[in-house]
Amino acid sequence: MTRSLQVVVLGAGAGGGLPQWNCGCCNCSDARRGIIPAMTQSSIAVSADGKHWMILNASPDIRTQLQACVDMHPESLRGTPVSAVFLTNGDIDHIAGLLTLREKSGFRVLGTEQTLGILRENTIFKVLDAEQVEFLPLSLDQLFEPVPGLLIEPFAVPGKVPLYQETDDLRLNAMGEQTVGLRIGAGDSVLYYIPGCAEIPDWLIERVSDGDMILFDGTVWKNDEMRATGTGTKSGARMGHIAMAGPQGSLSRFKALRDCQKIYIHINNTNPVLQPKAPERALVESEGWAIAQDGMRFQL
Ligand code: MLT
Ligand code: MN
Ligand code: ZN
Repeated sequence: MTRSLQVVVLGAGAGGGLPQWNCGCCNCSDARRGIIPAMTQSSIAVSADGKHWMILNASPDIRTQLQACVDMHPESLRGTPVSAVFLTNGDIDHIAGLLTLREKSGFRVLGTEQTLGILRENTIFKVLDAEQVEFLPLSLDQLFEPVPGLLIEPFAVPGKVPLYQETDDLRLNAMGEQTVGLRIGAGDSVLYYIPGCAEIPDWLIERVSDGDMILFDGTVWKNDEMRATGTGTKSGARMGHIAMAGPQGSLSRFKALRDCQKIYIHINNTNPVLQPKAPERALVESEGWAIAQDGMRFQL
């Protein structure tokens, strides 16, 4: 059995995807015309043996994503290579796809107690047959083997509760169970998956420094991007997403990460890096970052 870490990008886009149904911005229009690649909503699949897969976040596009990736196809009359789904938070674009997986195959849903509590409290998720689907809360900073040969470790990153749980005393960069990153190890290979992160403290840079690859929050290029593109009023910070640009942005903060493949994922349809000829794209690439695309595969 190979013990290397296989990674498939099932979807590279932020919530809404590219094109987003109600958006006529230049990126969405170009994606509709096939000028730039479309993106489904962010999700990756990981495996150590190529047979048992864990999916990171169940996007509303999961049905299309599983169909597009031959490794996810059933090998028997009824069944699935998807053994586990890990949820990094309770955002709609990360949990709604669970409802698509209701056709009575067994798998585990993993996440923090807080995130799994959201599923417990929303009766619609009872559609997942408890005889088949096990909901297993994981503690922060503890190792767990979700599929053979993979060791995962969830850890808190600065973030907020999901949009539909926001209250007046909302904290945008709280540390706790509401938003986590995941360390994924197989043999000597280490991957970090952090699709949502509100800021990058020194400890986080230190924590991910043993990674061979990091897939990180690439939602917006700059904090006021929605306003600047006329598509909305919320800042990246208000949405719980650190921008790429700026002194506290991910490009600058992760500059010191060497010997690590750095890839942006969860990219919003407003982000100028989606344009191959944009100066922002050139800058990102010159800093050693790649932009995830649906269907990308890596072996670590
Ligand atoms: C986010 O990443 O900020 C969320 O997906 C927003 C949302 O729930 O639509
Ligand atoms: Mn999202
Ligand atoms: Zn758009």
